[in-house]
Amino acid sequence: MEYSTLHNGVKMPLEGFGVFQVPDPQVCKQAVLDAIKTGYRLIDTAAIYMNEEAVGAAIKEAVAAGIVKREDLFITTKLWTSDYGYEEAKKGFDRCLRRLGLEYLDLLLLHQPYGDVYGAWRAMTELYKAGKIRAIGVSNFNPGKMTEFCTLVDVKPMVNQIELHPFFAQYNAIEIMKEYGCVPQAWGPLAEGKHGIFTHPVLSDIGRKYGKTAAQVALKWNVQRGVSILPKSVHKERMEQNFDIWDFKLTKSDMAKIDSLDLGHSEIIDHNDPNIVKFILSGKPE
Ligand SMILES: NC(=O)c1ccc[n+]([C@@H]2O[C@H](COP(=O)([O-])OP(=O)(O)OC[C@H]3O[C@@H](n4cnc5c(N)ncnc54)[C@H](OP(=O)(O)O)[C@@H]3O)[C@@H](O)[C@H]2O)c1
Repeated sequence: MEYSTLHNGVKMPLEGFGVFQVPDPQVCKQAVLDAIKTGYRLIDTAAIYMNEEAVGAAIKEAVAAGIVKREDLFITTKLWTSDYGYEEAKKGFDRCLRRLGLEYLDLLLLHQPYGDVYGAWRAMTELYKAGKIRAIGVSNFNPGKMTEFCTLVDVKPMVNQIELHPFFAQYNAIEIMKEYGCVPQAWGPLAEGKHGIFTHPVLSDIGRKYGKTAAQVALKWNVQRGVSILPKSVHKERMEQNFDIWDFKLTKSDMAKIDSLDLGHSEIIDHNDPNIVKFILSGKPE
């Protein structure tokens, strides 16, 4: 496992485990326990995923069983837009912490770029300075929003979690993040299974050279360009496969072949679609 150093010096595992679309508490708890046993140390949840309690239960069990210490884990959650604004964000953070059963968070993100992001950020900055959160960041901030935000805030986001996979490479967004010392983190690093990623001929051919699967090649491509990844799977053998990417290296030519798969747009979500914006603003955790 490799780590990335955030601009405040905090070390974050480059690979983490995501739990989006795992609503069943038993399934989620078991998945997180299996992930920790596999070696994952970063767990990525969100208030809107409605599974923070299950994630917290798995952490508690893993720590009690001596599998891992709390301080070896890196726990991320995200505030939803209904918790934006200064007061709301403070309350939203308290609820996240309570649901997770934790004393502190490793990373708190603004999940979406809409609503009173500045009020929420002020609260997050205070919580960060008070030592309640080790790092703060954003998610789904495009290059324009990232530039505006980083120009106007005092404490700049340490992470921006956006959609990043071989079919949506977003090199431009990564460049802007690097300009502000922000670590790019990939959601959907396996393109949520779209485009036949798991049997894609280009990824599979490259993988054959190293005895790796198309999924492992896609994940390694992101890591090698400095992107943190959060693959999700509720199947232990897939978790293990997705974690087994640290013993090979893609060549420049492999990287270029994967770069050529970029479609230049998302086929999962379009943050410029007014209906998506309305949908996001109408959501609420709990
Ligand atoms: N910030 C945001 O707005 C945002 C948005 C989306 C996601 N995220 C975060 O990013 C994480 C990852 O993204 P994601 O869950 O959307 O998608 P993903 O990790 O790209 O893909 C997950 C899908 O791939 C399958 N899968 C995983 N590994 C596999 C393998 N080796 N072989 C075959 N199938 C495999 C999973 O199925 P099984 O589970 O059935 O194995 C699941 O259907 C999320 O869980 C969440 O933590 C954040």
